Amino acid sequence: MTTTIDAILSLSKRKGFVFQSSEIYGGLNGCWDFGPLGVELLRNIKESWWRSMTYRTDVVGIDASILMHPRVWEASGHVQQFSDPMIDNKTSKARYRADNLIEDHIQKLANKNKTAQAAEIAEQLSKAESNEDFYNIIVNNEIKDPVSGTMDWTEVRNFNLMFETHVGPVASADDKVYLRPETAQGIFVNFKNVMDSARMKPPFGIAQIGKSFRNEINTKNFLFRTREFEQMEMQFFIPPGTEGEWFEYWRQERWEWFRRLGISEERLRRKPHDKLAHYAAAAEDIEYLFPFGWGEVEGIHSRTDFDLNRHQEFSGKKLEYVDTATKDRYVPYVIETAVGATRTFMAVLCDAYAEEEVPTGDGKVETRAVMRFQPWLAPVTAAVFPLVNKDGMPEAAEAIYRDLQRSFRVDYDTSGAIGRRYRRQDEVGTPFCVTIDGETLSDGTVTLRERDSMQQIRLSVDALESEIRRRLHA
Ligand code: GLY
Repeated sequence: MTTTIDAILSLSKRKGFVFQSSEIYGGLNGCWDFGPLGVELLRNIKESWWRSMTYRTDVVGIDASILMHPRVWEASGHVQQFSDPMIDNKTSKARYRADNLIEDHIQKLANKNKTAQAAEIAEQLSKAESNEDFYNIIVNNEIKDPVSGTMDWTEVRNFNLMFETHVGPVASADDKVYLRPETAQGIFVNFKNVMDSARMKPPFGIAQIGKSFRNEINTKNFLFRTREFEQMEMQFFIPPGTEGEWFEYWRQERWEWFRRLGISEERLRRKPHDKLAHYAAAAEDIEYLFPFGWGEVEGIHSRTDFDLNRHQEFSGKKLEYVDTATKDRYVPYVIETAVGATRTFMAVLCDAYAEEEVPTGDGKVETRAVMRFQPWLAPVTAAVFPLVNKDGMPEAAEAIYRDLQRSFRVDYDTSGAIGRRYRRQDEVGTPFCVTIDGETLSDGTVTLRERDSMQQIRLSVDALESEIRRRLHA
């Protein structure tokens, strides 16, 4: 079954995974809010990353501020180079990222089976290096503005993606700061603080989870391209000359993490970069096959000593490792792993979503929507239901609910037929449902129903918590 963005969007809103930011005011483009279920799923993803990256001897964590000294972004190259090519249509006033405008045109041609023409323009795009190249592709291929239908284009200009703001009460050029466009620089500028305070020596890493901001020209595809998003980045500082082996090590580790999230391997692929960013010596993306096509969820970059050297130069402070025994000194090289928490969230959501035909029990079939999250990743671990709302069942069910709540996130539902209650939990991916019935009161047993197989077992209330725990990590 092909999952569409619309199906994911509609489920996200209906069930409380994700809402449009400021929706009652008409929304704010490129910003999204995580609802009660979304925030749990996002936290579980972040916790899984944090554990996999920092529950080891050679990586420690930090949490740096979003606002940083403006010189950081001069040193990092973002002031000079962190821009996208932008083009405006003079009639409609619509603004586009020039490369996206061309890509959308290629897609339209491909949809109309004009494959040769699509391939030719794709070839031109792959070779484009300057704004003039983008402009020529647009004009020579008569690419029209989708809004006005005209070719009334401006030239292609650079648009810096960093959001600017001012510190203090007076807004002047001297007070200008940026909302960080990546968490990585908070790690680089703390390299020495961390190495000295945590007594680390290369090879070692620093990990961080946090919000980043990019003033994208066009936002699109739900959580994929947003103006505010969350990153999980790790910089691994290594002796020069060992970058080949550590790049290989981290590309394997990171692939395994996505597998552990339960993402289907046929919807994951590795994509080496054709064009390298200004800081990179080697780079590879991990991509997921979203409903709109392949898109990057993580980048693994071999960054050489570019960043630490630049910060040495701009700050005037030494950022070296000095071996106390040998007196050897060097500026470490860096392998970076940079994953989008919100993009991973979207990949998990798309991958888990399924619709299937199931028997109703009376010889008929019905369609159920089910989120097949890994049990430990699901926003709610278990739901507790009294079979009927009388005969002491609600009291017994509430006691079990409170008890389980000490260990897991648990939902309690008394409304509607039991089948409907199962469907509601299936739709949000709750892996276990516990039903309290007449037998519970007489012999202390309940039924435990598993989401994917829909199989039920009967077990003693006393064994419930340990059985759920066992299945969570089975
Ligand atoms: N630090 C690399 C990135 O933001 O993708």
